[in-house]
Amino acid sequence: MCGIIGYVGKNEAAPILLEGLRRLEYRGYDSAGLAVLDGGIIQRRRRVGRIENLYELLSVEPVHGSTGISHTRWATHGAVTEENAHPHLDASESLALVHNGVLENYRELRTELSRAGINFRSQTDTEVLACLIGLEIQKNGPITPESFRLAVERSLRRVKGTFGIAVIHCKLPGFLIGARRGSPLVLGIGSGEHFLASDVTAIVGHTREVVYFKDNEIAEITAEGFEIFSLTGSTGGSVEIHSVDFDAEAVELGPYPHFMLKEIYEQPTSLRETMRGRLSHEEASAKLGGLNMSNAELRAIERIVLCGCGTAFHAALVGEYILETLAQIPTECEYASELRYRNLPLPKDTLVFAISQSGETADTLAALRECKRKGHRALGICNNVGSTIARESDGGVYMHAGPEIGVAATKSFTSQILVLSLIALLMGRMRNLSHSQGLEILSEIEALPEKVELVLENSDYISAVAKKFARAPYFLFFGRQFNYPIALEGALKLKEISYIPASGHPSAELKHGIIALIKENIPSVIIAPEDSVFEKNLNTIEEIKARNGTVIAVTTEGCDRLNGIADEIFFVPPAPEYLMPILTVIPLQLFAYHIAVEIGCDVDKPRNLAKSVTVE
Ligand code: G6P
Repeated sequence: MCGIIGYVGKNEAAPILLEGLRRLEYRGYDSAGLAVLDGGIIQRRRRVGRIENLYELLSVEPVHGSTGISHTRWATHGAVTEENAHPHLDASESLALVHNGVLENYRELRTELSRAGINFRSQTDTEVLACLIGLEIQKNGPITPESFRLAVERSLRRVKGTFGIAVIHCKLPGFLIGARRGSPLVLGIGSGEHFLASDVTAIVGHTREVVYFKDNEIAEITAEGFEIFSLTGSTGGSVEIHSVDFDAEAVELGPYPHFMLKEIYEQPTSLRETMRGRLSHEEASAKLGGLNMSNAELRAIERIVLCGCGTAFHAALVGEYILETLAQIPTECEYASELRYRNLPLPKDTLVFAISQSGETADTLAALRECKRKGHRALGICNNVGSTIARESDGGVYMHAGPEIGVAATKSFTSQILVLSLIALLMGRMRNLSHSQGLEILSEIEALPEKVELVLENSDYISAVAKKFARAPYFLFFGRQFNYPIALEGALKLKEISYIPASGHPSAELKHGIIALIKENIPSVIIAPEDSVFEKNLNTIEEIKARNGTVIAVTTEGCDRLNGIADEIFFVPPAPEYLMPILTVIPLQLFAYHIAVEIGCDVDKPRNLAKSVTVE
């Protein structure tokens, strides 16, 4: 949801900013821009569309200087136009500002500033903030780094909403201000240079030493150093410097044409990383120290609530089945966006999990905060280390899936399910699972990465089937029990990257309305592994075939009962029912991917989507 990057140092800022923007493009890609200080002048370049357009503009109209800020936009306020692209300037064109977030009271502030004679050139909330800071500066005499920071502070105290910002002033070369509330911001520490970014992926090629801004922090940054202050006047704690645990290569495409395909293929590795060090054969259980809960506290839990958005919500739905089956704890799932406003009656021994790859999704963060406010213990299941949800939760489990760049989530989904399986094993072993049952679950978990490798070997066949059906006008996805959420996820993947309408349903719901849609050119994808509901799924398939429908089935290797019935079959290796979703989703990820490629869609940057939605 918008990416920002700032630089101050000895090198030319523009190439560093552009490279950072390219890495942040997954956060938004409506328009992009940068501003660099050169001899007391702000040089600004902006372009609608992809970062390539900005590259082109800069090749014709280059900028020079070693202090700069830049932005890739996912529009919230104002259409996608060059005027609305960041950076924005104040009325006197002395300062430039980039912003990620939403300023809720910008209309009131805009009216106030308009009355004071300011003419706005964009429809954005960000320009209002830039002008507010500009006026504050004017009120306070000659500009110094400190007076600049104080003007930004006073302005930020007047805005309601969320922000991660980077600001520069034409009279202060070599000086950069960053601040955050609600939107992510990280400071990168280099040698004789510093970086600001909304995500470490933007700067990991330059430094792996970072400081994650906390809410309501503002920093004065120069090439040689930085100082962090509190926006609320509280005396800040000590600055914690973190070391990023992946390198620049992890955020490069390598031999793959798209990040999505790379990440689908990374799943054997990402699953291994998720389980690494967490399987205890001695205790026939999982070791999850980050939960920060004693066995007695875990044993006392009576109910679990899982929340998330998009794909993370689908992982939660799978988790509900797994937790209820293995640990027999009543579990419910809520969209984070619903949970945050719902007054859900919950017993006091409720444990809440906020599931989020990015750890920055605004709705999931708000749901976490609301549950904590109500006194529930709320934990995070995140991929991004140091993310806001990870920091604000009472504890949690990192996915360790490695950076996920493709907008359509893939490896984070399977790692989320694996984390939920480990939690279910741990809690189940405190309740109803014997030592030998625990050992069996562990060995099934350990076998997963190799089974995923086997599924990936079928990629050519899946690609051929995808090509055959790529022009279908609509797809139906069906699954039952553990695989019902996989039907939802299969449909979501297809919609996200190919824009083909699709919907996911519990198999048995076919006869309650959806059957009216069945006809030859509307394929039904049915996830029907050989499990306790296989016969039921078989009935669904027969019902579709009886109405001339086309069936693409996902089933277990060795099962021949769909031969001659289903039109196409994707096989996955056998696995227990509770782990099967980790395997059955993979052919559907590949299926969506190959369809999108076949019809010429931009897989990694789908229309209108952003990887991390940090606004409500
Ligand atoms: C956006 C993305 C989805 C993602 C969802 C939740 O909508 O487009 O792919 O599943 O956010 O993201 P999170 O980072 O919280 O898992």
